[in-house]
Parts: sequence; C-alpha cells; structure tokens
Amino acid sequence: MSSEESLERTQAVAPPSLTRAKRLLHRSYAKLPDFTPLEYRDWDDKQLRQQVLARLRQLVEEHAAQLGKVDTDSLLSALLNELTRMGPLQQLMKEEGVTEVMINGPDTLYVEKAGKLRRLKRLTFNSEDHLQATARQILAPLGKSISGGQPMADARMKDGSRVNVVAPPLSPNGTTITIRRFAPKPYTGHDLTRFGTLSPNMLRFLHLAVHERANIIVAGGTGSGKTTLLNMLSGFIPERERIVTIEDNAELQLKQEHLVCLEARESGLGGMEETVSIRDLVKNALRMRPDRIVVGECRGAEALDMLQAMNTGHDGSLTTLHANSPRDVLARLETLIMMAGYQLPIKAIRQQIASAVQVIVHQARLSDGTRKVISIMEITGIQEETILLQELFGWQRTGVAEDGTNQGRFICRGMIPKVVQLMRERGATVDLSMFAQAGGDDALRPI
Ligand SMILES: Nc1ncnc2c1ncn2[C@@H]1O[C@H](COP(=O)(O)OP(=O)(O)OP(=O)(O)O)[C@@H](O)[C@H]1O
Ligand SMILES: [Mg+2]
Repeated sequence: MSSEESLERTQAVAPPSLTRAKRLLHRSYAKLPDFTPLEYRDWDDKQLRQQVLARLRQLVEEHAAQLGKVDTDSLLSALLNELTRMGPLQQLMKEEGVTEVMINGPDTLYVEKAGKLRRLKRLTFNSEDHLQATARQILAPLGKSISGGQPMADARMKDGSRVNVVAPPLSPNGTTITIRRFAPKPYTGHDLTRFGTLSPNMLRFLHLAVHERANIIVAGGTGSGKTTLLNMLSGFIPERERIVTIEDNAELQLKQEHLVCLEARESGLGGMEETVSIRDLVKNALRMRPDRIVVGECRGAEALDMLQAMNTGHDGSLTTLHANSPRDVLARLETLIMMAGYQLPIKAIRQQIASAVQVIVHQARLSDGTRKVISIMEITGIQEETILLQELFGWQRTGVAEDGTNQGRFICRGMIPKVVQLMRERGATVDLSMFAQAGGDDALRPI
C-alpha cells in the first residue's frame, strides 16, 4: 500500500469531534517551548514519547471543558503519533525512490519520485499548527528552530536528508518544508552510467581528471544532480591524499580515511554563535595543509579564494556552481568575484579563471526527470579577453518518445584534451581510446 492510500484510510475514519479536538490541542502544543537538542540527545524514542505524552495529558486536563465527549485515549494516541513521528511525512521518508518532498502549507504536498513531480492530494496536515509542530519536531533535535525572530531554517537530518523550513510571516500561506532525500547508498560511477547520466568514456575521463589533479567545476541548475556527481567524483581522489571538504550542510559522503569535513554555520543562540561562512572556511582550509579542497557549492565571495587556491598549489580541487551552461559558469564566476567587492579589472578576473579551472562538467535535469551530463568542456586558454572553451564530450537529443522520455546519444568530439597532454608530459600513462569518436582512433587529434 502506498503512503497516500494508507494515510487516506487513517484520515477517513477520524470523526469530526476528534479532528476538532486535535486542532485545539495542536494549537496549544505549538505554544510550548521545543525540547532542547540535549534532551533529544539523551532520550531514546520511548523516553521522548513519554515526555510528549506527559505534556499532552496536561493539555487534555487544561482543555477538558472544550474537548466534550471525545475519546481521550484515541485522542492521545493519535496526537502522540503525530507529534513524535513526522505525521504524513513519516512514510514518505521511507518510501523508496522518493527524492524530494515539498510542503506548501498544510493542504499542499508534492513529491518527486523517479524524477517525476506529483501532488499527493490526499496527504495533508490537520492544520497549520500541526504542520508547524512537525517542522519544529524535525528541527529541534538538530539544534534549529523556526520560533522567535528567525522563521527560516536549514538543516541536515539524521538520515542525511537536507531540510529547509520557512514559516509565517515569511511564507504567508503556511509553513513550507522542502526535504531533499538522498539515495541511502551514494551513487557510484557505475550507477550513474547505468542510469544513462553519463557515458563510460566520460566517466573514464573524469576519473583520470580527478586522479591526476585537474581543477573541476560541476555546473547545472537546481536539483540537476551536481552534489551527487561531485560526491562520485570525489571518490576518485587517491586514498593517500588529505582532503578538506567545505559545505553549508554536510551532504558529501566520502569514504577516504584522511578526510576533514568542515561545515559553515549561521549565527545562532541569540547572537552567541557567530556566522562562519564558506569563505572563512576556504581561507582556513589553506592553513590545514590540504592536498585537495572540495567545496560543496561556490556561490559567494569564496569564488575568488577558491580560484586562488586552485592556482596556488591546491590543484585537483573540486566544486559545484549553479549555472545554465558552461559559458554561464564563466559569467557566474566573474559576477561572484565582482559582487564580493574586488576591484579587479575584468581581464585579470578572466585570467584567474582561465588558469585555475581546467574542466567544466555541465549536468541537467531533463523534462522527463532524468539527469544527464550534457557537456564536458575544457578551458584551453584565453585570447584577448575571451576565455576559450573546447567541448570534449556531449549529449545530443535525437527526439522525444511517445511517453515523453528524451532520446539521445553521447558524443565524443575526438580531441585529446590539453590537460591530458600535460598529464602525459608529467609521466602519466593515459589510454587515449576514451577520446576516440565512434569512427575510430584515427579521428583523434590534439587540441
Ligand atoms: N544521475 C542521477 N540520476 C537519478 N537521480 C539523481 C541523479 N543525480 C542526482 N539524483 C537525485 O536528484 C536529487 C538532486 O540531486 P543533488 O542534490 O545532487 O542535486 P543538486 O544539483 O546538487 O541540487 P541543488 O541545486 O539543490 O544543490 C537527489 O535526490 C538525488 O538523489
Ligand atoms: Mg547541491
């Protein structure tokens, strides 16, 4: 039975008096302070349920006159389940294939499953108070809150999922929760080629590029699979190297032993905790003797620091950037650097970019929900003020099938990348067959 069907059954049997009573108690419960992260840490599930039950009993007593003839046991057990589990979200968070859960107020819930976005009309919350209680209960154990002056929060759940909550008045139509779920086991290169995200030769090239310390930017739109690809690529960093990862919310799951994970933070605890930005962490990472720096996403003033790191001996660094094409990556980097207030002439910025970045991988989420590496480009140099890009691999759409799935093929441009020529000069052995066009090896030509 799907989560929608089973929830429909439980909601259908709730009599109106019980629903009314639940609304009333949700409202009162929402006014109580959250349990603290320390309490959550010290209690197991049973103890948490006992604590919530004690609070609920107290509220039932206080509101006895308004509750009427409702069956108190059913009321307490329904509320206890809603307040200690994640309400309608509980089952969705376990359902295989669900990659995104989006709640826009108590009556509107969308999920993305197997790349398709769908509204679950029958899955709703009892009220805005119930929804807010659920959001608070997700956030409180993680040390985050939407009460007080900060009705917006971002956190990583215990299972690795990323959650974002925006509460009224910032979202006037009701609390908005967005949960990004990750595959329980991170996708490997083999998985991604099996899904048709990239071709085996693209994978071989990217493996080589990471292993041989090319600086790589993974670009794409929201939810296009940048972090997933970055995670897979980071797995190609040799075991002996010291890696420092820097993220807003730790999403990367690297297996290497010599690993330091740094996580930025917003100011918190009423101003007692200062903001530590990605940029602060990039600067700090340079003092930690890293062999590699992996920045989860570059989207602010850290862009220049990252490029400088790439240019000053921390080659082999990896990051992602929100952009709509490889050319757009260059424009975005320029904008980020200028927005950070550096008074550098555009030519100097472009020179920094051209000498820092070697490879741009562009990934997209297609209309049928699949993720594809659309293009792998190399930066080959700079002429006057124009950065030169050369496509090495790409994906070409050939049509759309009746069921809406995109059809296409991966292509190789038949070039030996400049970065590979440098690797060979340094003594690396490279099997050049990965760059051969379908026509055969004789199509190979150096750029
Ligand atoms: N190649 C893929 N095939 C199928 N699903 C994928 C693939 N890559 C990523 N996903 C799924 O898509 C969702 C988004 O992936 P991911 O977080 O990597 O994207 P993103 O581009 O980093 O998103 P954001 O812009 O929010 O940072 C995740 O649930 C992930 O499991
Ligand atoms: Mg991401």
